Amino acid sequence: MKKKVVLAYSGGLDTSCCVRWLQDKGFEVVCFSANLGSEFSPEELKKKAKQSGISKIYVMDLQKEFANDYIIPALKTNAVYESKYVLSTALGRPLIAKYLVDIAHKEKAEYVAHGCTGKGNDQVRIDTTIKILDSKLKIIAPLRVWELTSRESEIAYAKEKGIPVSSTKEKIYSIDQNIWGISIEGGMMEDLKNAPDEAAYVLTRSMEKTPSKAEYVDIEFNKGVPVKLNGNKMGMIEMIEKLNKAGGKHCIGRSDLVEDRTVGIKSREVYEAPAAWIMIRAHQELESVALDKDTLSFKDIVALKYSQLTYQGLWFSRLRKSLAAFVELTQERVTGSIKLKLFKGNISVASRIAKYPLYKMELATYGEKDQFDRQDAKGFIEIFSLAYREK
Ligand code: ARG
Repeated sequence: MKKKVVLAYSGGLDTSCCVRWLQDKGFEVVCFSANLGSEFSPEELKKKAKQSGISKIYVMDLQKEFANDYIIPALKTNAVYESKYVLSTALGRPLIAKYLVDIAHKEKAEYVAHGCTGKGNDQVRIDTTIKILDSKLKIIAPLRVWELTSRESEIAYAKEKGIPVSSTKEKIYSIDQNIWGISIEGGMMEDLKNAPDEAAYVLTRSMEKTPSKAEYVDIEFNKGVPVKLNGNKMGMIEMIEKLNKAGGKHCIGRSDLVEDRTVGIKSREVYEAPAAWIMIRAHQELESVALDKDTLSFKDIVALKYSQLTYQGLWFSRLRKSLAAFVELTQERVTGSIKLKLFKGNISVASRIAKYPLYKMELATYGEKDQFDRQDAKGFIEIFSLAYREK
């Protein structure tokens, strides 16, 4: 009997070459393609798979699971890596890897494979997740071992083997997209002296083309989960799509980051994530009203570690799951509405309404209704300062 491998397949040049390469090595190839919110055509994938002699293909729309089990926990945490990356690609990988493992079990395959390069984070995330979930599965990463080290050599290989490739035209940038954001790298942006290429952006208009009139978005949260946009009840995916459009129009959510990869390389990536930045900002604003200062500051520490773990592919680690449990408990009172103003690349707050506010106007006000007892302040300061007096 032939050895069976389940391959994470996108239909692009890399994974199409992987199929043939694995077949030539004697494997029966079963493919798995997941839709996390990029351009995705199940028909096209199935057609391509058939042409390539793939024995079976699983095409799955995982956007809901991605939103509920990955994006929402990250949003509750305000997870951002190195201050600029909302972890869109990083959040998608453990989900894909989890399905690779599940399908391998179902297919009774001993092997799983993927088309990640040998220099990136994604191989670390996918392999680590697989090893955490089932350390007995054997992992094949053709791009780490084969001789096709350039795009030209892959195209030549594809031609020689009669592999259907949709476009052989020069692909300038490597782009990874899902609903939470887009990652763009390569080409002229590898040189840090160059500003990002305006033509590379997918979701956002250039600042020069943004409207001269501001737009307002009102997000209602229930226990840290966005549930309404501008008064309309809606699911997470629809809300993200709407906010990506609105934010994109006002050039919101771009970032340009020289980041630290897990494999030790510093690399430069340009990101677009309008909805993610809008939602995180709204969530943080609501938390500032609803949570006490210790929980807020401790949550920031948790967010830092949580983001690093997520970036490094340790989503299913004991620590990431435990931190998520802590974050979950903090969200009990994070209910209310935040109205934001989107204008010329900026997000500003227009209104904050919390169901359980710790902000008390009668304490904060300098007006007539003031109820704060200033006389208590003197004694408080006397004792508060004791520990710091050196003279
Ligand atoms: N730098 C991001 C990360 O490590 C994105 C990686 C994929 N980028 C890409 N353009 N294909 O999560």
